[in-house]
Amino acid sequence: MTEPTRPTRAEIDLDAIAANVRAACGLAGAGSAVMAVVKADAYGHGAVPVARVALAAGATWLGAAMPEEAAVLRAAGIGSRILILGPIAPAQAGLVARHDLDQCVSDPAQAEVLSRVATSAGRPLRLHLKVDTGMGRVGVSLREVGPAAARIAALPAVRLAGLMTHFAESDAEDPGFTREQLARFATATDALRAAGVPIPLRHAANSAALLRHPDARLDMVRPGIMLYGCHPCARRGQTDPILAPALRFRTVVSHLKDLPAGGSVSYGRTFVAPRDLRIATLPVGYADGLARLLSGQGQVLIGGQRVPIVGRVCMDMTMVDVTRVPDVRVGDEAVLIGCQGTEEITADEIAALTGTISYEVLCRVGARVPRVYRAAKFPRAPTEPS
Ligand SMILES: Cc1ncc(COP(=O)(O)O)c(C=O)c1O
Repeated sequence: MTEPTRPTRAEIDLDAIAANVRAACGLAGAGSAVMAVVKADAYGHGAVPVARVALAAGATWLGAAMPEEAAVLRAAGIGSRILILGPIAPAQAGLVARHDLDQCVSDPAQAEVLSRVATSAGRPLRLHLKVDTGMGRVGVSLREVGPAAARIAALPAVRLAGLMTHFAESDAEDPGFTREQLARFATATDALRAAGVPIPLRHAANSAALLRHPDARLDMVRPGIMLYGCHPCARRGQTDPILAPALRFRTVVSHLKDLPAGGSVSYGRTFVAPRDLRIATLPVGYADGLARLLSGQGQVLIGGQRVPIVGRVCMDMTMVDVTRVPDVRVGDEAVLIGCQGTEEITADEIAALTGTISYEVLCRVGARVPRVYRAAKFPRAPTEPS
């Protein structure tokens, strides 16, 4: 791959992802398969390269939000099991069959649609029945699990490949509600087994549950955020593995100017220089995923130092005060997320400043930001999705 021409880039460290996947596999242990959740373009990291590395590092399943995401993985030649975690509209069911995907269902009516599609495709489909144990989003209620499984079992072209649930607060300090959800899930699995319904795979754990709730590991775990190097819990446990952040979002200084005291910067003139300042303009803005909420609040790294964002973040440009940094030149690197020298700006830091979570900070890195892949230990890993 030729280097992108745009200096604003997201550098993705595939070795970091491999290390994080290995850490997840280590926690899961021999009894639980690992599904690498690569939805939303692998949380902004690039689904195809991440999926390849995750599978090479020990994951055996992939999780996508919708069949269109899985189609991209199949087009790249990825043949592993892929579970579609989200709900689908009837028009999307054909993709599930065409790409031989596993589909999560929350309602037997969805299973009926999939069975009809599978019949005409001439290929049976594997379904994972989702149980709502407390997330309150999708899934059948505990009361409905038995009848739903019976209706699915009676359909000609689908089979129940798994029973799953999702935790609402496995990252919380108080483990009580997650334990309650797990107990409800156990009630559901026991009831189905007692009714003679085979359940090949039970799965529930996201990253936080994998770290905090060993009982939730079951037959398979579904980590997402930890594979990208962000810790899912506010407080780290002493035995938690060290996770390596995989995304570095960087640009360069594109313009420098001296701003006299009293001069203003950007739309709305929210920043007025209290004294003579040196201002650098960066060719990155909210259209690239640098949150406008960072206006006058965030920092970036230049010359190994933290420098403040001044004035409003624009769609394509952002200004920073580099007065304290000696010898800044046009072309110098500016880091928006990641390390430079001994300093680091984490996705969690930006999330805290902008009232969100690391997940959104990572997913927000825009489609027009080229991804560049680095991998020392995976020399033949792709440098671009193919
Ligand atoms: C059903 C399901 N399983 C697993 C995950 C992975 O969660 P996390 O990124 O918190 O590990 C998600 C992500 O939202 C999900 O929706």
